[in-house]
Amino acid sequence: MAAPTVQEKLPELVLTPVDRLRLRRTRRPTDFLERLGAGSPRIVRFRLRGQDTYLLIAPDLVRELLVAQGRATGKARGHSHARMILGQGLLTSDGDLHQRQRRMIAPAFHPTRVEQYADQAVVTATVLAEHPDWRDGAVRDVAEDMIDLMLLNIGRMLFGADLTEDAGAVAGALTTLLRPFERRLLPTSRLMRRLRTPGDRQIAAAGAELTRVVERHIAEHRESGDRGDILSMLLSARDPSGEPMPDGQVRDEAVTMMLAGHETSAAALSWTWLFLDRNPAVAERLHEEVDRLDTTPAHGDLDRLPWSRAVIAESLRVMPPTWMMSRRLQQDVVFDGWTVPDGSTCIVAQWLTHRDERWWPDPLTFRPERWITPAGEFDETAPGQPPGAYFPFGMGRRVCLGQPFARAELALVLATLTRHWSASLVPGHPIDIRPGTALRPAHGLRMTLHRRA
Ligand code: HEM
Repeated sequence: MAAPTVQEKLPELVLTPVDRLRLRRTRRPTDFLERLGAGSPRIVRFRLRGQDTYLLIAPDLVRELLVAQGRATGKARGHSHARMILGQGLLTSDGDLHQRQRRMIAPAFHPTRVEQYADQAVVTATVLAEHPDWRDGAVRDVAEDMIDLMLLNIGRMLFGADLTEDAGAVAGALTTLLRPFERRLLPTSRLMRRLRTPGDRQIAAAGAELTRVVERHIAEHRESGDRGDILSMLLSARDPSGEPMPDGQVRDEAVTMMLAGHETSAAALSWTWLFLDRNPAVAERLHEEVDRLDTTPAHGDLDRLPWSRAVIAESLRVMPPTWMMSRRLQQDVVFDGWTVPDGSTCIVAQWLTHRDERWWPDPLTFRPERWITPAGEFDETAPGQPPGAYFPFGMGRRVCLGQPFARAELALVLATLTRHWSASLVPGHPIDIRPGTALRPAHGLRMTLHRRA
């Protein structure tokens, strides 16, 4: 049977004026997604900013968009705002430029390099575990500590340098850059998005600050040669015609990496601390596993840490740092027999698909066992789940380049910290989500630290 034509449109989910008002005011666009997903559809059509938009929820449709139709899609319009910050780095570039850059950068994530970066992350985590501020009984904003830790990790990995000296400036600049970008992620009015506010000057200043830090590192690297870090790789990479990356492109890629690689990982670890506090049996099993290691964990120990890895995988399922992604179709595509026309925006939402009881029994319960095979091993594909039901790192040609590193880093940092520490939420501390560039705890995470014997 021929696919229905554009005229026979998939029925539209009509948003009421109240919906639209709520949408403009909301700080939780995930509520809006949940409204669209009510009644368990596989695909939803609705109008957003005057445009037909399609939300694909069923795993096979997610896969169809991101994998099978990868070539027929580009980044959606919202990414033009991100380009103001990230320039033409991997996250925001499209087409030939994206493909060429991805090919040139991929060697920086070769398994032997990933091993080195991951072991370095353990060193940084050990410094935190032994830091004088981490005292028995101390109350810390663990979400903030995780941001600082991940910023140090990404600095080491990118520049082979301790970013401690720059950490304040970099963190401040990233926050300034992300705030308005996050506002733009929300489906607010066009006017709001176009308004030039004094914030624009701050954004420019923050952008200049980051550029200054990156350019200083580029200059230092040119003098010192290969240091085994990502920046060295970017500087020595050559395209097929033997041309190096222009400095501006190196800068965009480095800034992209700083952003892509620290906030997501920090959010994942923050939620993991909360899950461990709320699930004592899970925490106990984790402690037993990490206590069996005689020394600080290393990349080579990952096979001995199936539960740590399962805890991370489950945390990324229930609280996915990247909670939604969008694409713009560059040709007509048929989904579930409906022709979705060229130029449409398609959305996939980890927040919905990861937490849908059609694919995940008891979806909101934190159960790392889902990731453990009968032989007791960790299986990152979630035994028994259809492909496309779990995609915290995306899928297809734009899948997260940092994925193997992030998985290793998160499990090893978790193991390193929980060998010495557990943490309990300060009673009464409010927990809510803040879905921005990453899904973070809205009010931070005030926790009391307990030194483990
Ligand atoms: C828990 C941690 C992380 C999560 C959840 C995550 C998630 C993602 C997702 C969902 C995408 C795909 C975006 C899309 O298709 O539109 C992506 C892309 C990317 N990520 Fe990650 N990421 C994480 C950590 C990292 C780290 C540590 C790095 C680097 C050091 C990194 C570098 C990148 C880059 C460069 C891309 C762009 C790939 C491309 O478009 O070709 N990520 N990430």
